[in-house]
Amino acid sequence: MPFNFDKPTQRRGTGSVKWDMLPEDVLPVWVADMDFESPEEIKEALRGLVDHQIYGYAWPKEELFTVIINRLKDRHGWEIKKEWIVLLPGLVPGLHAAARTLPKERSSVMTSTPVYFHLFKAAGSAGNQTIEVPFAQKDKKWVMDFASMQNALTSSTGMYMLCNPHNPNGRVFSKDELEQVSDFCLNNDLVLVSDEIHCDLILDNSKKHISVASLNKEIENQSITLLAPSKTWNIAGLGGSMAIIPNSDIRKKFQDAAYGIMPHMNNWQMASMLAAYTHGEPWRKELISYLQANQEYLLKEINGIPGLSMEPCEATYLAWIACDKENPEEYLRKHGLGVSGAHQFNGKGYFRLNFGTQRANLEKAVAILKEAFGSNS
Ligand SMILES: Cc1ncc(COP(=O)(O)O)c(C=O)c1O
Repeated sequence: MPFNFDKPTQRRGTGSVKWDMLPEDVLPVWVADMDFESPEEIKEALRGLVDHQIYGYAWPKEELFTVIINRLKDRHGWEIKKEWIVLLPGLVPGLHAAARTLPKERSSVMTSTPVYFHLFKAAGSAGNQTIEVPFAQKDKKWVMDFASMQNALTSSTGMYMLCNPHNPNGRVFSKDELEQVSDFCLNNDLVLVSDEIHCDLILDNSKKHISVASLNKEIENQSITLLAPSKTWNIAGLGGSMAIIPNSDIRKKFQDAAYGIMPHMNNWQMASMLAAYTHGEPWRKELISYLQANQEYLLKEINGIPGLSMEPCEATYLAWIACDKENPEEYLRKHGLGVSGAHQFNGKGYFRLNFGTQRANLEKAVAILKEAFGSNS
């Protein structure tokens, strides 16, 4: 039976960051989770755990590794080994553990900004330096500026952190661009950390997700790839994630950095991940169609509002909207809309709007934008 993504859901009062952190008169389109119920198979798996009534320590089932290995092979054309998989209780801890794998003399981490903030925070929280290189624009698309990246390298740079597909600019980087990332890391002896949490949310049917680590054996051996079903199946609050680390030396450093601090993956995370990857494809495909239609609607509306403009995002449910107001987050909050300001991503001149919601909510958000920017006539 098709899933009804228009079905209204009530998240206010449920302890939701997205809905309960903002006042009741503000419609939240900020934090990156969606307002849809997860697929039935995930709910069933979680109910099974509740019904078991014993909540002890968890051990991953063999099936979990099998489903991950098969998924990466079938969808990404990447053959991985079981021992490369490090299960994690969240993807962000993986970014921070990755930054702690570097030796002191090569401890600074480069990333391209604006970007999801933990990519530029991870080095700092490990006591290391971050080198931020701004994205450039080419033919209205955000692209990595390899010349500036090369210039910004120092003798202490040991890592490049990539977000692909990109939050917040929505890019799905091409094979050519990712080959340049691979060359950049290999030529400069940098460990590549690739956050691919949004890889199952490709909205542009002409694009395909490519894991950088799958491009060649050299970069595979110098990489940490971070993945999770959390964004796609709306189980972000559960957190189940993983790192794929082919190089045993890097893997050991990563596990040492996490030891005793990062909890092991728990039952809820394992069960939801297993159910999502095993049974979640029909739901995911319907979700993609719904998000594509939401984005089409949003694009048309936003590009008709004076002072705002938007390019299609190739992936994610996060629109990156150019705005000529000084502080759009604060301005829109006063008008009753909770967006994410560009400053959160070390950017400016934009705000991020989460369209992973019922069309009726999105229409309300658009009405607020029209009213706030004076195009309601
Ligand atoms: C690129 C990226 N990585 C990681 C996360 C969060 O991961 P987690 O909640 O599993 O720590 C987000 C959430 O928005 C994200 O966009």
